[in-house]
Amino acid sequence: MNTASFEYRDGALAAEGVCLRKLADELGTPLYVYSALAIRRNFLAYEAAFKDVPHLVCYSVKAASNLALLDIIKSLGGGADIVSGGELYRARKVGIEPSKIVFSGVGKTEKEMAEALKADVLMFNVESGPEAELLNKVAGQMGKKAPISFRVNPDVDPKTHPYIATGLKESKFGIPIDEARDLYRQAKNLSHLDPIGLDCHIGSQLTQISPFAAAAERLAALLGLLKQDGLKIRYLDLGGGLGINYHAQDVPTAADYARAVKDVLGGCLPELTLIMEPGRSVVGPAGLMLVRVLYNKITPHRHFVIIDGAMNDLIRPSLYGSYHEILPVIDHNRPKVKVNVVGPVCESGDFMAQDRELSEVKAGECLAVFGAGAYGFSMSSNYNSRPRPAEVLADGQSYRVIRARETLEDLLRGETV
Ligand code: LLP
Repeated sequence: MNTASFEYRDGALAAEGVCLRKLADELGTPLYVYSALAIRRNFLAYEAAFKDVPHLVCYSVKAASNLALLDIIKSLGGGADIVSGGELYRARKVGIEPSKIVFSGVGKTEKEMAEALKADVLMFNVESGPEAELLNKVAGQMGKKAPISFRVNPDVDPKTHPYIATGLKESKFGIPIDEARDLYRQAKNLSHLDPIGLDCHIGSQLTQISPFAAAAERLAALLGLLKQDGLKIRYLDLGGGLGINYHAQDVPTAADYARAVKDVLGGCLPELTLIMEPGRSVVGPAGLMLVRVLYNKITPHRHFVIIDGAMNDLIRPSLYGSYHEILPVIDHNRPKVKVNVVGPVCESGDFMAQDRELSEVKAGECLAVFGAGAYGFSMSSNYNSRPRPAEVLADGQSYRVIRARETLEDLLRGETV
């Protein structure tokens, strides 16, 4: 795990210059903590990698959608990749320019289409024929022309967890690449659609470059055909998906990724603006979840470290069996024991780590769960009627709460007997 913005200072873990134990004591746990520096650095790595070609980095809002985090992206000139009316609302709220927003997603509703058309987003990444027809109708009713790209499914194996692989032909996502040419021809004849782009996204947490290059190759071939058909495709959206190092993984950098896709696209580049939709690689390593140990429960078979954070707060280990590095907030240099780190939720699937070698921890001490910046808070829920954690942004020596801890009243909002 690249924990560079989180490091031990005199045996105490800090987020940039902010002591995490102090944060936990003041604000309670579980607590999400992000490093502004890390988010900036990760985002700017894309900017640097693509600086020699026209490009737009549209941060994938679903990875972590707090307004303060989106505001960092905006301040760096970034755009947004959104998948719902809610994400559009967030992106607009912080002032991300609509001309930098792409609207992805396999099930856009009529209402969401109308909202995005009203906002004048850069383009809709359309995922089926029926969606194109509906968008054409909605745009017609509003007297508009909807700028679109089709999200094609290039049928490449992203070699990642099946739940987050999207570019295989069996997937619900995208349009089979062989059918794309026909759909573009049809779209050209629909008076309220303007096909200006081509899009794909093959999966998430990719740890190899070759699937990206394979997808880019297929898109380049399709671009050639579309050109023959008289279409003027100006945007090539390559989606997101670059993996991060959760644990002893070698992952490609944004620069490796850029080099590979630019190599493949070569001749097509002069006519295109490249769009990237990174989520995880921008915020994933930049966030952690602080939790407190409630009990050590030792049975004849297992040693459970029971913490106050649970699957409702961070669902990745339960849902994908994903590995998150866990370290003590204060390094006491104690011997290691093999434990299961589990939460209070009433499910055996509620764990943060299984069979993990961890320094002994005592009740009341804090642990940091790393790599929680992406798909952490954004996938959290109130399961077991647990108020969701607060979120904090560390920036240099200072920090601020960017989302208050939910209260019991928050839990009941909107409910009636
Ligand atoms: N663009 C599209 C169309 C997407 O569907 C996604 C992610 C992204 C961009 C951003 O991908 P990233 O750069 O973050 O890999 N909850 C799962 C990940 C789901 C990814 C969904 N789509 C997890 O926690 O691993």
